[in-house]
Amino acid sequence: MSVIVTATASVNIAVIKYWGKRDEELILPLNDSISATLDTNVMCARTSVCARPDIQKNEIYLNGIKNSFDNKRLQTCLKKIKAIATLQKTVDEEFLSWNVRICSENNFPTAAGLASSAAGYACLVTALAKLYKIQTDISQIARLGSGSACRSVFGGFVRWHAGVKCDGSDSTAAQIVQSTHWPEMRVLVLVVADKEKHTSSSIGMKKSSETSELLKYRVEHCVPRRVDEMINAIKKKDFPRFAELTMKDSNQFHAICLDSYPPFHYLTDVSYKIIDVVHKYNEMYRETKVAYTFDAGPNACLFLLEENVPEVLGVIKYVFPSSNTDYVRGLDVPEEEEHTF
Ligand code: PMV
Repeated sequence: MSVIVTATASVNIAVIKYWGKRDEELILPLNDSISATLDTNVMCARTSVCARPDIQKNEIYLNGIKNSFDNKRLQTCLKKIKAIATLQKTVDEEFLSWNVRICSENNFPTAAGLASSAAGYACLVTALAKLYKIQTDISQIARLGSGSACRSVFGGFVRWHAGVKCDGSDSTAAQIVQSTHWPEMRVLVLVVADKEKHTSSSIGMKKSSETSELLKYRVEHCVPRRVDEMINAIKKKDFPRFAELTMKDSNQFHAICLDSYPPFHYLTDVSYKIIDVVHKYNEMYRETKVAYTFDAGPNACLFLLEENVPEVLGVIKYVFPSSNTDYVRGLDVPEEEEHTF
């Protein structure tokens, strides 16, 4: 007897960034953040979990390569889900005692600032919750794997409420609007480099929290106002407002990296060229038609409306003649499948 469950979850692109933790263990952020979850199948993780009595030890394969299961965050997610299953008595004890084999694949560069861990943990937790049949807010468990993963549990635009409680029970993600709310919205992902980033987000956040005064200012004075304005812009489908907030927030996050001491940076010359091209394009139209945002890496995500995609793609091809661009359609929710043998 064996049970196999498969789930998919997509990357999310933060438009109001999460940067800095108030609790490292529980992964509790300093500020609320907002993101858009992309369409499934385009940039997603697909994870299968198999539980069987003859698996000797828990195993994990990432993109076909066996990785160590000796990973604290991974173990925390599994333990937490099994503990809830025990409490809710959703499966029998024998099933709970079986080990699992996890196979996860990304169809995009891993750890290049493209939120691969977010999709990965959202997907893993979705699959495990299904395997053990638990009923709970899984965003809180995904958060324990990788903070931003809690947002990939939902489709559409999603807010991660930082919460105020010490146990993290109110640090949870919630959908702002579903994926169908803004059907004209598109994301162009410009992969500048697909190598691993040199400063992981965990290390970067720690450095910034310890040394950046700008980070303190941002958390207190900028984010609360920006979150309200962003939710308004999304609900009203006010693209120019949405775009300006997105770019300003990305710029502030990268300014914080430089304000940390010693400083670190994720953007490259190509990233800056993309920033300049976007501003020139918007200035030419005297209207904000495209927005860039960069996470902890040099790759750009451009938000724009569908009607502007052909022209913007043309501009990118003109400025970067040898480029290939990934055109990501729409916003969507994680999917699950289950097979019992
Ligand atoms: O969830 P982490 O630890 O990979 O951190 C993500 C941080 C950013 O991508 C830079 C911002 C965000 O809100 O996703």
